[in-house]
Amino acid sequence: MVDLMQKIISLAKRRGFIFQSSEIYGGVEALWDYGPLGALLKNNIRRLWLKRFIQDQEDVVLIDGTVIMHPKTWEASGHLESFTDPLIECKTCHTRYREDQLLKKQCSQCGGKDFTPPRQFNLMFKTFLGPVEDKAHLAYLRPETAQSMFTDFKTVQEAMRLKPPFGIAQTGHCFRNEITTGNFTFRSREFDIAEIEFFVEPGQDEKWFDFWLDRWEKFFFDLGLKKENLRRYEHPKKSLAHYSKRTVDIEYKFPWGFAELAGVANRTDYDLKRHAQFSGRDLSYYDEEKKKKYYPYVIEPTMGLERALLAILCDAYTEVKGGRTETTKSTKETEVILKIDKKIAPIQVAVLPLVRNKPELVKKAKEVFQLLKPYFMCQYDDVGSIGRRYRRGDEVGTIVSIACDFQTLEDNTVTLRDRDSMKQIRVEIPKLKDIIQKILEGEDFFKLGEIIK
Ligand code: GAP
Repeated sequence: MVDLMQKIISLAKRRGFIFQSSEIYGGVEALWDYGPLGALLKNNIRRLWLKRFIQDQEDVVLIDGTVIMHPKTWEASGHLESFTDPLIECKTCHTRYREDQLLKKQCSQCGGKDFTPPRQFNLMFKTFLGPVEDKAHLAYLRPETAQSMFTDFKTVQEAMRLKPPFGIAQTGHCFRNEITTGNFTFRSREFDIAEIEFFVEPGQDEKWFDFWLDRWEKFFFDLGLKKENLRRYEHPKKSLAHYSKRTVDIEYKFPWGFAELAGVANRTDYDLKRHAQFSGRDLSYYDEEKKKKYYPYVIEPTMGLERALLAILCDAYTEVKGGRTETTKSTKETEVILKIDKKIAPIQVAVLPLVRNKPELVKKAKEVFQLLKPYFMCQYDDVGSIGRRYRRGDEVGTIVSIACDFQTLEDNTVTLRDRDSMKQIRVEIPKLKDIIQKILEGEDFFKLGEIIK
């Protein structure tokens, strides 16, 4: 299983999905750059999330708040006091660990068993606002996007004339100075959260919690993750975060075991009341119809985009030992197919001239590329044999590949190859756009043309 993780890490680097930040200087632990394909994939996950929860629904609005907020925010939210992990240090070699993650109480660097007593280490990154670096100018990089949805609650509710139940959503960069990292991007120090604060009348919260848990979980099914690799984990009461009445994690079966991918929490009226108390502003809601004033309860579905992306890579990674094609079978190569869902695959269409030393064929292939480029994420590839190019596309999850061959010059048709079945149909160039659109919308590839191979 660890071997599988190594293969995924290697593919992610080799094919431009994910690599270490500032690698030429040796990299920085737990900071990752998303390359051309990783950036597209992350964007596609975010776009699907925005479509599902902002465009398709009428009860959630989007905001885009700042990473640095007023320092009082973190006092009110409880992060200054409670957003901590227990830090211990090996007395021999001074390696630091999160106490709850060091199971055998033995240093992995020197084997030492003598540790300092745990001290609470705050995970928020600190910075200073303006040129003076003193306590009065101390500020923090947000560790979650949630807080501006609470501090902006009243302004957004009034501007958009919203009545509970309604949600405010946000996605963006967050920062956590994690003590222990590892497992590739799973525990990064800079990452993106996508989350919703859904404001409801007190007493309605438990019903809405169940509703959001189902809705949130369905999003991961729709990303194409296999149902058997997802499960729910109900947090026991004693391990709940300081603001939570109930939290259920959605866990994914990563190569090293089940771990948190996303979650839904019932944050009660904790945050709004705390911000009201610390700011002196009234953040309650007045229900005109019921003539009732109350602090809404909050249901919070949350997820990390990088964890979703990592789960997608793990879930999609498929090896066929001995190969799927005559060429790979004869060389006993292992073929890799990244079976990423059609809705989010970074490259949708590859355009391939059969050979690159035939100018009419290259010209035709470039015309097809230009024709489709405005509608789909396309890639033009003319390096190596056509078989190698198909396999290169399969390895990064390209949904369909178009080959322009000698017949193309005679009858203006091309072959369209499906990544997962490797079947090919012959299609007239003017019909390509509509047919690819139908494939992306989930229509059966085999019904869209006559199978020729
Ligand atoms: N507002 C609630 C909140 O921030 P969280 O469980 O601490 O809750 C939300 O974080 C999500 O962010 C998690 O479900 C996880 O997917 C992701 N996440 C948390 N810490 C992370 C880290 N160090 N690296 C990558 N993703 C992380």
